Amino acid sequence: IVGDATWAAEVRRLADARDAVLLAHNYELPEIQDIADYTGDSLALSRVAANDPHSTIVFCGVHFMAETAKILSPEKRVLIPDARAGCSLASSITAAELAAWKAEYPDATVVSYVNTTAEVKAMTDICCTSSNAVDVVQSIPADQEVLFCPDQFLGAHVKRKTGRNNIHIWMGECHIHADINGDVLAETACQHPDSDLYIHPECGCTTSALYLAQEGVVPQEQVKILSTGGMLEEAEEAGACGDHGEVLVATEVGMLHQLKAVAPNVTFTPINPHAACPFMKMITPAALLRCLALGKDEIDLDPDTIAAAYRPVDRMISIGN
Ligand code: 13P
Repeated sequence: IVGDATWAAEVRRLADARDAVLLAHNYELPEIQDIADYTGDSLALSRVAANDPHSTIVFCGVHFMAETAKILSPEKRVLIPDARAGCSLASSITAAELAAWKAEYPDATVVSYVNTTAEVKAMTDICCTSSNAVDVVQSIPADQEVLFCPDQFLGAHVKRKTGRNNIHIWMGECHIHADINGDVLAETACQHPDSDLYIHPECGCTTSALYLAQEGVVPQEQVKILSTGGMLEEAEEAGACGDHGEVLVATEVGMLHQLKAVAPNVTFTPINPHAACPFMKMITPAALLRCLALGKDEIDLDPDTIAAAYRPVDRMISIGN
């Protein structure tokens, strides 16, 4: 049965035969996270992709993540179990749209979220992930205009944290995170007033959470805006302290698997239990087996695009913890 111990042994055998390292994003199915050599957030996995010695990377995540690995390690073979695993956020800005936007602000520094196509990255000055977006923007001189794309909610978070008024934000969104909105957050938070809130900055509810804290509905210190990697660090601390509390989690539901593993005493409750990314879930155990058996789907990027995208992505992995 796909997903069982025989499947796991076959996946490991094929990965060894291909000299492949298996990377899985925190939103992947539990079986995929458990079989991977490394599970993590976008920044951590990019860093592994840049430094791991294996000649093949199998990226269990969505397409832009595997492309990012290829940009960082063009000499390696990069496979994704299903190349149709896209990203609504990455699709919300095209290279032509970015070119037109840059023409309006020719002197601005372009910061693109890692959730973009390789072509958009190739036209970018510096990329960022949710864990280092604030640090990346802070690394740009304060008098320099910034174009931030494509996520409007992450952009608003960065603007709030940096206090910059010279940042222009593209109005894209991840449909899954946008649906974790202020209404659903307010309703759940009011029912669980003692719970901590872990909120991914791509969520539509980030501003509402801060408003609830400002109004005293939820204590300020209980509202934590974090990348998926940041959520895990926070949960590890709660787990280590023997905390028996409850945490409301605003992100894709795949995250719950890792959170429960690092802090089994804590109750993690998704703010929107329907927030499952259909693209992430295309990376099934069967798709991973097929990928390793057939060496498909392979990421193939034009060398000029790789050359142009390398610097902004390399700058991304050098900033932040
Ligand atoms: P991180 O991997 O930075 O936590 O972001 C998650 C995400 O939404 C990827 O699309």
